[in-house]
Amino acid sequence: MLATQRLPAPSLAIRGGHVVLPGEVRRLDIGIEGGRIVELDLPLRASYPHELDATGLHALPGAIDTQVHFREPGLEWKEDLATGSEAAAAGGVTTFFEMPNTRPPTTTPEAFDDKLLRASGRCRVDYAFFVGATPDNADTLGQFEKRRGFAGIKVFMGSSTGSLLVPDDASLRRVLAAGRCRVAVHAEDEPRLQALAASVAVSRPHDHALRRDEECARRAVQRLLDLAAETLRPVHILHVTSAAEVDLLRTHPARRLATAEVTPQHLLLAAPDCYDRLGARAVMNPPIRDESHRVALWQGLRDGVLTCIGTDHAPHTLEEKALGYPGCPSGMPGVQTLLPLLLNEVAGGRVSLEDIALWTAQRPAQVFQIVGKGGLLPGLDADIALCDLSLQRTVTADLLRSRCGWSPWEGESLQGWPRITIVRGHVVWRDDAPVGDPIGEPVRCADAVPILGR
Ligand code: DOR
Repeated sequence: MLATQRLPAPSLAIRGGHVVLPGEVRRLDIGIEGGRIVELDLPLRASYPHELDATGLHALPGAIDTQVHFREPGLEWKEDLATGSEAAAAGGVTTFFEMPNTRPPTTTPEAFDDKLLRASGRCRVDYAFFVGATPDNADTLGQFEKRRGFAGIKVFMGSSTGSLLVPDDASLRRVLAAGRCRVAVHAEDEPRLQALAASVAVSRPHDHALRRDEECARRAVQRLLDLAAETLRPVHILHVTSAAEVDLLRTHPARRLATAEVTPQHLLLAAPDCYDRLGARAVMNPPIRDESHRVALWQGLRDGVLTCIGTDHAPHTLEEKALGYPGCPSGMPGVQTLLPLLLNEVAGGRVSLEDIALWTAQRPAQVFQIVGKGGLLPGLDADIALCDLSLQRTVTADLLRSRCGWSPWEGESLQGWPRITIVRGHVVWRDDAPVGDPIGEPVRCADAVPILGR
């Protein structure tokens, strides 16, 4: 395994582009020194030995994808840290938070160290790893909190891909009592999942949302928020899928302790159409539901009840998906298409560039207190996605960098694509090709988490 070679970040001026700032888009040049933005101005005051012409491009803060499964160790035929981070870089994602349901799962200090070692020198963008909670490690999870590269604790309240599970309130209470960082939760109620598995017959992908119904999600969120109120522990609810969860997050007495994220696929796909078109490829946990839920998710995101967007990039091979429902694994890839999908929404006049910066960079950085990340401002890391808002492209398999080699968005024509991706001042991706050696490093999350929920 190669050690990360810390290349000196170039002193770089990005000229000619428009910069997406919190709340406004302005024609500005960007001055970068030592990996950080040092000035945003027109013209820049200092001189810089390197220049990058961004004429016609918009500079968005590099996206922070707080939910990806890169499958290493143990499931590398689907993805690994190198291929997953290439897909991230190709899509303008400059930081990823990776999930612990690997083989073995990331549940011990040894497994966490192993992930950091594997990532070193192989990732094109910055990263951190979640540690999975189990009834066995529940009381000791606080030990990870000051470590560079530690994203947070991940709880599966309901069974999904892999063996991780904290099914009962007594164990969940212990997890919440051990430590201070925000706890990220896959919120589906395991007792109800088991009851539905025993009582609901399924034969086609459309049935997935019956087996993992809205009530599974609602019950889990209710239990979690009740326990958050009791323990005063901040929680982050991953992939919210239903109107009932949005309502709970809007009204529960512990709502100020809770942040939440939503995936692009739950925002942009709806049943039954997605199952008609994509079959088992559209199957994921928790499921894509009908149009009424999709509308409620957008409303929740616009209101700030849902805090940010994460992809739940969950690659499985086409052969695995071809097993059909219910034999196929759940999940779909998405890290590379996060920004193109949202930029296409900008082209359609449905969201703004400032919304994208808020949902994919500023808020994720706040939720997890990521040091130095989250926007294009002097003092922050120069993590930048230079995007061409007029570029129209169809998603095709040859564009995709994930090892799984497919996307639910293949055949879609999208307007607005990242062209150049910059991590701490290093160009890491340019016009469909990697640039230089991988320079990704582990990020640091502050251990004290502010109350962010509404
Ligand atoms: O659909 C899913 N796939 N949901 C999860 O919670 C896990 C993920 C995976 O790892 O495949």
